[in-house]
Amino acid sequence: MPERANTCAIAGMSDVWEYYRGELDAVEDQIRQNLDSKVALVNTVCAHILSSGGKRIRPLLLILSARTAGYTGRDDVLLASLIEYIHTATLLHDDVVDHADLRRGRKTANGLWGNQVAILAGDYLYCQAICRIVGFRNQDVNECLSEACRKMAEGELMQLSYKDDTSISEREYLKIVEHKTGSLMAAACRMGAVAADADPAQRDALFAFGQAIGVAFQVADDALDYAAPREVLGKSLGKDLGEGQVTLPLLHLRKHCTDDERARLAEVMAKKHSGNGDLAWVVSLMERYGSIDHAMDTARRIVQAAKVHLDPFEDSLHKRALHVVADYMVSRNH
Ligand code: IPE
Ligand code: IPE
Ligand code: MG
Ligand code: MG
Repeated sequence: MPERANTCAIAGMSDVWEYYRGELDAVEDQIRQNLDSKVALVNTVCAHILSSGGKRIRPLLLILSARTAGYTGRDDVLLASLIEYIHTATLLHDDVVDHADLRRGRKTANGLWGNQVAILAGDYLYCQAICRIVGFRNQDVNECLSEACRKMAEGELMQLSYKDDTSISEREYLKIVEHKTGSLMAAACRMGAVAADADPAQRDALFAFGQAIGVAFQVADDALDYAAPREVLGKSLGKDLGEGQVTLPLLHLRKHCTDDERARLAEVMAKKHSGNGDLAWVVSLMERYGSIDHAMDTARRIVQAAKVHLDPFEDSLHKRALHVVADYMVSRNH
């Protein structure tokens, strides 16, 4: 890896991508190397999604957490590639659950090969990650990752059990989000701390940081589902409305709109396949009542609170980078 000047300032996300390019390139190599099934279809389907340009936020969080906790070795790169495998497995399954047709700007695996293939390819990625993880013979890593997988599945199932249920409270919504998205980011950060052999308080602090920014990330994602610029999102807009998923912008809107508007909203939701006109109407209402802004303000508040968990760590470029990534959770547009 090239030598880097320690004085390099990290002001924004582009500096983070640049500064950690060596590590992130090594993660990409590892991702490719681990895809070594003897079954051609497995490699084809997994390569389709793995090579389509995800943001690699979880690998980055793992590496930055490890280094913030003082790690100087190379195991974090392999662990980071494996957490991306787990994330990718959840995406393959989530796109089946959500009937999604577009992911990372490409047709989804379920769209191209059908649900059966997408589910089994997701299973493969989960299992391949676990096969490699157990090779570390580190019980803390095993526990951390398996608990995250359990919580993610619970989160997705909790969400399904609230489908079309507009009586869901903000607290219940946040519980789902913490499970389905917060848990893997929390695990990424804790695994970095474990790699660094950090003390229990530091492991807990990084876990809490990752969980909180993961929640903020999903709240922002739920706002983007309504309001992102269509050309950059890489996913279809308005999926949550069409799937009967009641997220924070919709909860806020339902609370503040008129009875007539609420009745029409219920009709739109009942239609299932709401058209672009319906979505545009809902988005215009959200703009009028400040529902998107409310969701983004909530996400920003969570990020600010998350950063406090990093206070006990010595100041370093790596810690600075974690702050920048935390802000990116709510400033990104895809
Ligand atoms: C998508 O995660 C799933 C959510 C938790 C919202 P990302 O937005 O990190 O997906 P990629 O990896 O960058 O495509
Ligand atoms: C995130 O939920 C799913 C996982 C954590 C697997 P969403 O369903 O909102 O994510 P996108 O919008 O499809 O990426
Ligand atoms: Mg989805
Ligand atoms: Mg989903």
